[in-house]
Amino acid sequence: FDADVYPDEPMRRHTMYRIGGPARFYVQVGSIGALKRLVAACQECAIPWVAVGRGSNLLVSDEGFPGVVIALGRDFRACRFDEETCSFIVGAGVPLSSVVQEAFRRSLSGLEFAVGTPGTVGGAVRMNAGTREQGIADRVVSVTTLSPRSGLVRREAADIQWGYRSSSFAPDEVIVECELAVKPADPYLLRGKMEAAHARRKKTQPLTLPSCGSVFKNPEGSSAGQLIEQVGLKGERVGGAQISEVHANFIVNRDNATAQDVLELINMARSKVYEAYGIELQPEVRF
Ligand code: EPU
Repeated sequence: FDADVYPDEPMRRHTMYRIGGPARFYVQVGSIGALKRLVAACQECAIPWVAVGRGSNLLVSDEGFPGVVIALGRDFRACRFDEETCSFIVGAGVPLSSVVQEAFRRSLSGLEFAVGTPGTVGGAVRMNAGTREQGIADRVVSVTTLSPRSGLVRREAADIQWGYRSSSFAPDEVIVECELAVKPADPYLLRGKMEAAHARRKKTQPLTLPSCGSVFKNPEGSSAGQLIEQVGLKGERVGGAQISEVHANFIVNRDNATAQDVLELINMARSKVYEAYGIELQPEVRF
């Protein structure tokens, strides 16, 4: 069975927050065959399972996860450029930043918006990661998924519904591969765009402490960060967690924060913003 199995594996080793109790089993599968077998076994034994990427938008509880956490290894880490279609065929386990770098190396544009976006391609596709204006969905040609009900399915972009930080994939569908379209570009312009995106992030986001990026989606017509700042919560601390002093829509792990610390800050921000503005902030972070 082409998999590495880690029992009682602390999830804080696999989340960008560096938070989370143990997974009953953390399993890195090396092939589609292994993934199929593992998912089928979990279904058969009614063991909860979940597929994760690099844990960059994930808050795992301090109690951990009472089932199998699946990570995508070897065969899901390939990235190939197809000259004919001018697109990348990328395994879901490939870090998004590697594809962004590869595109830059080949002077191909379309992924500059994702400079500095953490996580894997699979995770990015599932949540349509991106900026306010652009998401990875804009580049998707097709996505291949595996699910216990339908097996391996390739969906064309037109058959997928996308929203702001959301997609129509079913919860038990694991994204295994996707095709991303790019375009030849002027290398100097490309470099300029990438440097600008990077500089903007460096200036406005807390990049030196563990975090999950934006905690809340931006409500229609306003900014979660701005609203949280306006209710006076910038810099607020609970235990080892803090609403970032740099960007109020980021919660940072300053000092051995627990999931409970982060949750308390999330609830505090939600209730204060609701009281002040009647706006219900929707978390972007998955629990
Ligand atoms: N603002 C404040 N106070 C703060 C933070 C922000 O007043 O503490 C204001 C800013 O001055 C600005 C507005 O809020 O006028 C928006 O802030 P910013 O430009 O930093 O972008 P954002 O809307 O907070 C979005 C994405 C980020 C992405 C950036 C850059 C969401 C929820 N967030 O942030 O995505 O990196 O744009 O493109 O859409 C993520 O989703 O994890 C993420 C980091």
